[in-house]
Amino acid sequence: MKKLFLTLAALALGTAGLAQSGKLEIFSWWAGDEGPALQALIDLYKKRYPNVEVINATVTGGSGVNARAVLKTRMLGGDPPDSFQVHAGQELIGTWVVADRMEDLTPLFNQEGWMTKFPKGLIDLLSYKGKIYSVPVNIHRSNVMWYVPAKLREWGVQPPKTWAEFLTVCQTLKSKGLEAPLALGENWTQQHLWESVALGVLGAADYANLWIGKLRFNDPKAVAVWNTFGRVLDCANKDASGLSWQQAIDRVLEGRAAFNIMGDWAAGYMTTTKGLKPGEGFGWAPAPGTAGVFMMLSDSFGLPKGVKNRTNVLNWLRLLGSKEGQDTFNPLKGSIAARTDSDPSKYNAYLQSAMRDWKSNRIVGSLVHGAVAPESFMSQFGTVMEIYLSSRNAQAAANAAQAIATQVRLGQ
Ligand code: GAL
Repeated sequence: MKKLFLTLAALALGTAGLAQSGKLEIFSWWAGDEGPALQALIDLYKKRYPNVEVINATVTGGSGVNARAVLKTRMLGGDPPDSFQVHAGQELIGTWVVADRMEDLTPLFNQEGWMTKFPKGLIDLLSYKGKIYSVPVNIHRSNVMWYVPAKLREWGVQPPKTWAEFLTVCQTLKSKGLEAPLALGENWTQQHLWESVALGVLGAADYANLWIGKLRFNDPKAVAVWNTFGRVLDCANKDASGLSWQQAIDRVLEGRAAFNIMGDWAAGYMTTTKGLKPGEGFGWAPAPGTAGVFMMLSDSFGLPKGVKNRTNVLNWLRLLGSKEGQDTFNPLKGSIAARTDSDPSKYNAYLQSAMRDWKSNRIVGSLVHGAVAPESFMSQFGTVMEIYLSSRNAQAAANAAQAIATQVRLGQ
């Protein structure tokens, strides 16, 4: 009987799936509220490879602030996780790829027919010297403003379309007794806000010019970003540094704040964790001044050299790059598929709008989430932010940013 069952199971799964055993350690920062989408993908993996023990190793902390440090220790200590989450772009290329610690995945892309399934621009972001180094599982949008439609109606305000309008709405809301119209969280979320302010103030072309060395950070146009940023900060809660991104969103949902600027994992949180309906429980708009521009980032996974369970990793990568994998993960995560052939009917109204924007908008990359600048710049930008927050001196922050850009040879 047992034998018959095993034979049937093997037929159903394909014998290759059952034959696979050993372990697979997946390393990411998708813990707690951020976990359900990854878990769904792991469940799918377990269905195909029931004899593989999956270790879901997470290090809490939005945008990978803590996970990246742990990863560094493990990579340098010769104990790489089998596969780890990393943003497409400089976050991977400028670190572990240039250090020759990642396997070339171009053969996998060719075998799976992925060269025509992912956008060329995205493949370029995953590549170094013509070789591809990670598999993208999604596309997230950074420049989104979240609110609760019923609350805005109650307060008699509309989602502002520019940062100037935002500042006016902020005053109106303050006069109505809302102390902090903008909900803000810990340090990285402040940088996240900054990149949307920068995009809104500079426009797409000059924002992009910052990362290729064509616009200096101490150019008067870039100094102006800090001035606007400061005025926007005056609309935010004073206890920002103690709040996670989820707690900042909660302030909006509770009506203690009107707006929050956050990537669209916030939509995942509000739908998957909070059970809210897009358009009813929460509304969205491009961050002020950024309509028509999609600031993108992409989560991806790679294969470090010398891992213990290489075949299991390749099967993991195959799954997360597949249509089924992407359409399982993304509707829960609050991101859209990186593949161009995903099934829109599996996605909610917010995500369908993001899909349309992804196709029609001008695309720029996120700083905070690894797309445009090397880790060396990104990590030191936290210090620039500290300088600004303690001094409120736009010129000093701009000079510090330029000094780091020069030091890391940004854009060269
Ligand atoms: C981003 C990541 C998202 C989400 C977010 C908050 O960097 O790309 O998938 O996890 O951080 O932690």
